[in-house]
Amino acid sequence: MNITEYIKKIPKAELHLHIEGSFEPELMFEIAQRNQVKIPYQSVEEVKKAYQFSCLQDFLDIYYAGASVLLYEKDFYDLTMAYFAHCAEENVVHTEIMFDPQTHTKRGVSFETVIKGIQKAREDAKEKYGISSLLIMSYLRHLSEEDAFETLEQSLPYKHLIKAVGLDSSEKGNPPSKFEKVFEASIKEGYVPVAHAGEEGPAEYIWEALDLLKIARIDHGNNCLTDKVLVKRLVDEKIALTVCPLSNLELKVVDDLKDHPLKKMLNLGLKATINSDDPAYFGGYMNANFLQTAEALDLTKEDIKTLVKNSFEYSLLSDDEKQKYL
Ligand code: HPA
Ligand code: ZN
Repeated sequence: MNITEYIKKIPKAELHLHIEGSFEPELMFEIAQRNQVKIPYQSVEEVKKAYQFSCLQDFLDIYYAGASVLLYEKDFYDLTMAYFAHCAEENVVHTEIMFDPQTHTKRGVSFETVIKGIQKAREDAKEKYGISSLLIMSYLRHLSEEDAFETLEQSLPYKHLIKAVGLDSSEKGNPPSKFEKVFEASIKEGYVPVAHAGEEGPAEYIWEALDLLKIARIDHGNNCLTDKVLVKRLVDEKIALTVCPLSNLELKVVDDLKDHPLKKMLNLGLKATINSDDPAYFGGYMNANFLQTAEALDLTKEDIKTLVKNSFEYSLLSDDEKQKYL
């Protein structure tokens, strides 16, 4: 079997996916029309043309604008089911889905509406495709810690449906230390902490995520490579990185996929995984990320095996559940 076939066929886990970032323009138009919400584009082609980003903030502005057409439980259901259909097609058998409640509650959509739509899709995807999934509720770091506390409070009636808390949105200027207290409270409620760190922000933010937020896994983490002591710690403590190559390319974290540090991360003994982040915006789901990265970096089947094994091993599944896949 050649490496392309191998990548397509091997059962994979996705650990870094923003459900709002899987919102394809076609569905965005359909839902905008159904909800009678105006969007500043005339056609799907026009939307796609707007997807040219020079940094994370460029992307976030468009991402939040796109999410503004989501109003009802059915919208969140349709969005999530569309993502699961991609998973089924690409042999993604387990996925850890991030959602940003504040992107919606800030617009007057209730927490209940968001989570009920997503949850129904999770149940149907399990039934229809056999895909397992869990949820990571992500706090928006450009908002205040007080705001995150409000979100934590709103989540409590649905605690049984949520596995973890995350931290996303504009990284620079919003260090993990800003959210130390709300992460402490989230851990007390039983949520596993993870956080975006070192995507655009410095290695220092990764130290903070480890020491102050007590995170179990780092989202992105690219900038750990600027700090040898930090790399050693991540290797020693087996803190996995959820790396997103096509996202890194589109947001100019790397200039060329050939310069992507993924292979270097593996060589250093870092527990890297491959993920799609916001596939509707960055030009590809899991298999596109694997295939294009493998091509650019000359990854071997052994490398792919390691990456896929890491994705299950460093998932937030219980040890018993992991055994099914390892
Ligand atoms: N980084 C930070 N925030 C995000 C991202 C990302 O890659 N995607 C969606 N929100
Ligand atoms: Zn992300």
